[in-house]
Amino acid sequence: MLKALFISLSRAMWAQRLITRLPFAWRAAARFVAGETPADAIRVVRELNAKGILATLDHLGENTSRPEEAHQAVEEILVILDEINRAGVRSNVSIKLSQIGLNLDAALCRENLVRILERARETGNYVRIDMEDSPVTTATLEMLAWARQQGFTQVGTVIQSYLYRSAADIAALLEQGVRVRLVKGAYREGARVAFPQKAAVDANFDRLTDQLLEGTLAAGSPWVSVDGRIPPILALASHDEARIEHARAAARQLGIAEKALEFQMLYGIRRDLQERLVQAGYPVRVYVPYGTHWYPYFMRRLAERPANIWFFLSNLFRK
Ligand code: FDA
Repeated sequence: MLKALFISLSRAMWAQRLITRLPFAWRAAARFVAGETPADAIRVVRELNAKGILATLDHLGENTSRPEEAHQAVEEILVILDEINRAGVRSNVSIKLSQIGLNLDAALCRENLVRILERARETGNYVRIDMEDSPVTTATLEMLAWARQQGFTQVGTVIQSYLYRSAADIAALLEQGVRVRLVKGAYREGARVAFPQKAAVDANFDRLTDQLLEGTLAAGSPWVSVDGRIPPILALASHDEARIEHARAAARQLGIAEKALEFQMLYGIRRDLQERLVQAGYPVRVYVPYGTHWYPYFMRRLAERPANIWFFLSNLFRK
């Protein structure tokens, strides 16, 4: 299957070396990536903000293999928190724990996370911990719970509807008052932990949406913050119109205001739908990745949609 092939390629070092050397590869990846520098990222956020769209900035990188790389990643994240603050743009940040040392040493990762959360607190911002593949789900949720016990409240995470465990994870997160981004899931998972059929992943997505909307109501339906940085309880991250329509109808039925339900999409995908949801009064946040480590992110985007692979290949023939 093409999807499985591209997800495997996203992890293969030989393929990374080969593909990132191809000049047309960056040209194709640039559809999904804001650029290489913080200045590129802030420019894109300003453009989105001008259309009424919020952002979350992701300094690309994952699975760092040395502590120095993890420290370097932290420095980059601190820079972007400062830049968001200086520019006064409507954006928070997304990070991956494997980027800041989760797979190397839990103590190192904790220390790095604290540095990021302290800077987020100083600059009045919010940090979303992206969810990676299932071997690190428990460790990610434990790290989040630990950070919240240390008094950091401006931090949330992501739950994937393809995992069987997700309803239980959401129940625990709602109890802790954690804000959740709901996604289908972008990694390759076995039938032991995840629904193998797309229809089951979609049905679970709707069930988890309902659970999070009930949680929203129970928490007093908090709105997205006025500066656009702190999201509501549920941020529904999908380009699937049926999932979005389900959430809108369910929220309406529960009497939840538009500003208490956020929609998120990836940079470069379904701009029409983003603008339509803004017009309807919802907070819409675009996930904006930037930096030089774009390869695994780009491969996962190709895996999600066969048409993207033809788009990638068509760049071969463009001057
Ligand atoms: P689905 O794959 O069913 O696609 C529905 C429709 O959306 C498609 O028919 C197509 O029109 C469009 N579409 C979807 N993907 C596209 C693509 N790559 N290119 C062009 N069109 C596309 N995953 C994860 O495991 N951990 C995480 O932390 C995150 N974080 C995250 C943040 C945000 C803001 C988003 C939007 C997504 C994520 N994801 C993620 C990725 C997520 O798990 C999932 O892989 C993608 O969102 C694609 O799934 P959809 O929900 O869009 O549905």
